Amino acid sequence: MSSKHTVVLIPGDGIGPEVASATRRVLEAAGAPIEWVEHHAGLAALEDGAEVLPESTLGAIRAHGIALKGPCTTPVGKGFKSVNVQLRQALDLYAAVRPVRSLPGVKTRFENVDLVVVRENTEGLYSGIENVITDGVVASLKVATEKACTRIARWAMDYASRRGRRKVTVFHKANIMKLTDGMFMRAAERVSERYPDVAFEELIIDAACMRLVQDPSRFEVLVMENLYGDVVSDLCAGLVGGLGVVPGANIGDKMAVFEAVHGSAPDIAGQNKANPLALLMSAVMMLNHLAEERGDEAAKASAVKIKTAYDQALSDGQKTADIGGSLGTKEFADAVVERI
Ligand code: NAI
Repeated sequence: MSSKHTVVLIPGDGIGPEVASATRRVLEAAGAPIEWVEHHAGLAALEDGAEVLPESTLGAIRAHGIALKGPCTTPVGKGFKSVNVQLRQALDLYAAVRPVRSLPGVKTRFENVDLVVVRENTEGLYSGIENVITDGVVASLKVATEKACTRIARWAMDYASRRGRRKVTVFHKANIMKLTDGMFMRAAERVSERYPDVAFEELIIDAACMRLVQDPSRFEVLVMENLYGDVVSDLCAGLVGGLGVVPGANIGDKMAVFEAVHGSAPDIAGQNKANPLALLMSAVMMLNHLAEERGDEAAKASAVKIKTAYDQALSDGQKTADIGGSLGTKEFADAVVERI
């Protein structure tokens, strides 16, 4: 197949538009077979006078099946519900996949980190069910369903098996949350029995975090519920150079939305300082996804071209400030384009 794929581009806000434009430029230089249609969400949609998550944005993703998304700001402690969470729930993008690997030329405390965080993306404490019980007492409901626990476990085991990964570890707190985390852990155990080629282990999340920072190379694929996955993703980003270098995908049975782990970084927005690599890597995941799902060799070839180019740029010391370099967003994109 050689025709172009229509991909919905949601630039987001904060550093979103800057990293989205850098990413788009690199994909174009690599001849990626993509045709973009731009839609908005979050603050950018409100500025257009639309709803925070417009039906036209959701409709475009449903129609084309694939999107690349920049970060969207969520007001803290007040205001609208996270548009990122809304989008994942509305489109049933139940698996958040975040590959974390040590990069050439990016010096951190660890070498040889190569793990994947798989986060359940639709329920847990992100169900958004919060109630005032009485004055001074509030409650937030953690929801777990057998269906969601089982499908995320299956997704993680399946992913490990397809990618030749040898082990899946479930992080949980089933010693305290015996019902919710207990269900999550038991579902994973049950599903793992059907994958004799992949080793399975379960760890209580507090001890698991200690092990992660002692020796991340002992882990391969991690699977956990929503909130733990959110926190552990950022922790893992710290092992390999920070949020500027960790990509992600939100995957459902019918659609996929690719986005970096990082947020809108208001502290550096509009200053040409953001590292576009995390979104660029997410775009490479998207091209590989297109290659796998739609059998597109051109998508695969451009993914390889881009990955080789950014690895080379990093090896040559071409880096943004967050990972010890001095380049701006645009200049790093230039360095990648030069190497394509
Ligand atoms: P953040 O990820 O935006 O920033 C945390 C720190 O990392 C900041 O110091 C920032 O400058 C740095 N950073 C993040 N991305 C970077 C990049 N590409 N290059 C260089 N440095 C980078 O997290 P924060 O500050 O907690 O959240 C800001 C906003 O983003 C909030 O409104 C939050 O709700 C939202 N958010 C959105 C997400 C999404 O759209 N999927 C994910 C996470 C947060």
